[in-house]
Amino acid sequence: MAGASVSGLPSILFPTRQISDRIEAMAEEILRDPRIDGKFEQVLVVCALNGAFVFAADLLRAFAMRGGNFKVGFLKLSSYGEGTVSTGTVTMKQESTVDPAGSVVLFLDDILDSGRTLQFALKHLREQGATDVVSAVLLDKAERREVAAQADFVGFTCPDVFVVGYGMDYAERYRGLPYVGILDESAIAAEKVGI
Ligand code: IMP
Ligand code: MG
Repeated sequence: MAGASVSGLPSILFPTRQISDRIEAMAEEILRDPRIDGKFEQVLVVCALNGAFVFAADLLRAFAMRGGNFKVGFLKLSSYGEGTVSTGTVTMKQESTVDPAGSVVLFLDDILDSGRTLQFALKHLREQGATDVVSAVLLDKAERREVAAQADFVGFTCPDVFVVGYGMDYAERYRGLPYVGILDESAIAAEKVGI
């Protein structure tokens, strides 16, 4: 069956199995967090759109199998536009679909990069009345941080490369790949000239 050798498929950085094992372990770690443990009724999971939807789906299923049937909301944020470099400004396209007031919010994002998205989201959720905000990201590009922002839970530390798959896109494509991959330069160049 297919692997990274299939022409046009991004090369594998984090394989499917490694991601699913890590998600199960993260679910256990998160459920043991004192801000969440014993307070399941108050927990609202907020998934950053678009990129975190696959991460959130897998983590939510891992929570549910451990008794964590949490409320779920979605917050649409954007910092990238169509390119591979952050624009430096975070815009909120849609507020959380579930009111965070009075909840312990677990904010989920795909990648922590400059840190601006996380910083923006945490501030926003607190301003909206969340009693506590806990954060988890699948990937942390630690060396690219530009503002002080740190996630409480990190799936993997990620090298400074542009990644796609497992919810993450390049110009809205590749989100369905079941692994995290690296897009080669020629695919990015081809996309730019529209071939
Ligand atoms: P930050 O605000 O610079 O920390 O950027 C975080 C957001 O940028 C994440 O929510 C991702 O959607 C996006 N992002 C950062 N790096 C990548 C990447 O390599 N591939 C796809 N999206 C990325
Ligand atoms: Mg994103």
